[in-house]
Amino acid sequence: MDQAENLRMLIKKTFPAVSKKTPRVIAVTSGKGGVGKTNLVIGLAAAISRFKKRVIILDADLGLANIDVALGIVPKYNLHHVIQGKKKISDIIMKIYEGVKIIPAASGIEELANLSSFQREEIIFQLNSLKEEADILLIDTPAGISNNTIDFLLASQEIIVISTSEPTAITDAYAMIKIISKKNRDIKIWIMINMANSEKEAKEIARGIILTSKRFLNVSVQSLGFLLKDRCIPEAVRKQSSFNILYPYSQASRTTTLLAKRLYA
Ligand SMILES: Nc1ncnc2c1ncn2[C@@H]1O[C@H](COP(=O)(O)OP(=O)(O)OP(=O)(O)O)[C@@H](O)[C@H]1O
Ligand SMILES: [Mg+2]
Repeated sequence: MDQAENLRMLIKKTFPAVSKKTPRVIAVTSGKGGVGKTNLVIGLAAAISRFKKRVIILDADLGLANIDVALGIVPKYNLHHVIQGKKKISDIIMKIYEGVKIIPAASGIEELANLSSFQREEIIFQLNSLKEEADILLIDTPAGISNNTIDFLLASQEIIVISTSEPTAITDAYAMIKIISKKNRDIKIWIMINMANSEKEAKEIARGIILTSKRFLNVSVQSLGFLLKDRCIPEAVRKQSSFNILYPYSQASRTTTLLAKRLYA
């Protein structure tokens, strides 16, 4: 059994998909960086919590974490303390607002960016202690295909791959779908187009990725939807808050509610 398989078994034991009492584990990822993963995780968490579902965000951008910065919180402890054996995950988890908690990572710590497979297993294993506390575990991963990221993706039941309309983001999203689906054909894969210029553009790109994945990989990718470019998102980042809390009537906020609904459809 290879490491990824090992980890998958562990998370299945941790969050068995068959039990209604355990969380859905959804990782948000992309091939290319800067496409909006962290903001989508924050926005989806807020939107899902409004449906009375309890969300835990795991910041799996382990070496360059920034969910805490995006939310304007300063966690006293983070996953580095867990890796050092000084704290348990249950000690570092922080409530952000009603229904949403975060497991913070740290920034600029090389050890976290390059965890051993044993350390990754330890993190996943400790998530076990939280299974009563959440309906959904949302994992924010860094872009690309480091071992850290691949293992967290393979440990999830579903992944949301984000692309923008840039050709480089599209080809990298497809590469991500190819890599993950080769390693685990059971993962449900969603595609979401961010920062689109129009609905037509977003739908065409999503359709292209879905058709190409079906034709060349024989993989079914589901469309989660799209977000248009919306100034309220960088504005909320500057103000260190979630855009759908700060600007609940913006187009991005209303669309994010639809994305959250689609996840539960
Ligand atoms: N729909 C949108 N409209 C306008 N700007 C957006 C939108 N979504 C994200 N952004 C902006 O894009 C930038 C990158 O977003 P974010 O940090 O969420 O991306 P990321 O994929 O998590 O990046 P990284 O790969 O570095 O982790 C931010 O400045 C954010 O404000
Ligand atoms: Mg990010």
